[in-house]
Amino acid sequence: MNSKKYFNEIAHQWDNMQQNFFSEEVRDKAFSIAGLKKGKIAADIGAGSGFISEGLIHKGLKVIAVDQSEAMLAEMREKFCSAEGVEYRLVEAEILPIPDEAVDYAFANMYIHHVESPQKAIKEMVRILKPGGKLVITDMDEHEFKFLKEEHHDRWMGFKREDVRRWFEGTGLKKVIVDCVGESCCVQSSCGDEHASISIFVASGEK
Ligand SMILES: C[S@@+](CC[C@H](N)C(=O)[O-])C[C@H]1O[C@@H](n2cnc3c(N)ncnc32)[C@H](O)[C@@H]1O
Repeated sequence: MNSKKYFNEIAHQWDNMQQNFFSEEVRDKAFSIAGLKKGKIAADIGAGSGFISEGLIHKGLKVIAVDQSEAMLAEMREKFCSAEGVEYRLVEAEILPIPDEAVDYAFANMYIHHVESPQKAIKEMVRILKPGGKLVITDMDEHEFKFLKEEHHDRWMGFKREDVRRWFEGTGLKKVIVDCVGESCCVQSSCGDEHASISIFVASGEK
């Protein structure tokens, strides 16, 4: 099974799974670092069933939600059917179907550990930012839990913060900060014999 098939299969359960993995603190921290302003446009990359998008909608932003999984986007459409200013884009790659300099913010929560090239994915997110726009990525620190690859189709076992900083700075982003969210991602293996508790980082920069 590949990652797209996996996320299509679990889309219905993702909200419940995600609530066990990490809390709203993660998006609160991402939003406070971004300094959100009502009426601006934000992209939520690897949006899933809309954990980040939901917060953005509540804060009065317009949202472009991007994901490879039609089932995840269907979950979002159902949840946010009465919300205005939300667009959905189905893509399977790190080439975003969004023009250059189109958005004020780009967010990606727990997305880059699924892509083939995190560095390319970061470059793409920077491309779509307007000058002065902010990129905020939240993801896992480097870890040793192989079951996440086998059971959750993770490609990367988290990241070294210095690599993430280098990738951000390599795109020309300014005011780069890579810091702790102050929370861990907690996942139990399916047979129950392993329990991962992995610290979460937040990386931000301004174009
Ligand atoms: C771990 S989930 C996180 C979802 C959401 N951001 C959240 O915090 O709940 C990862 C999401 O990234 C999407 N994804 C993985 N690789 C992708 C790719 N190459 N292009 C677009 N979406 C991708 C998956 O379909 C899935 O919905």
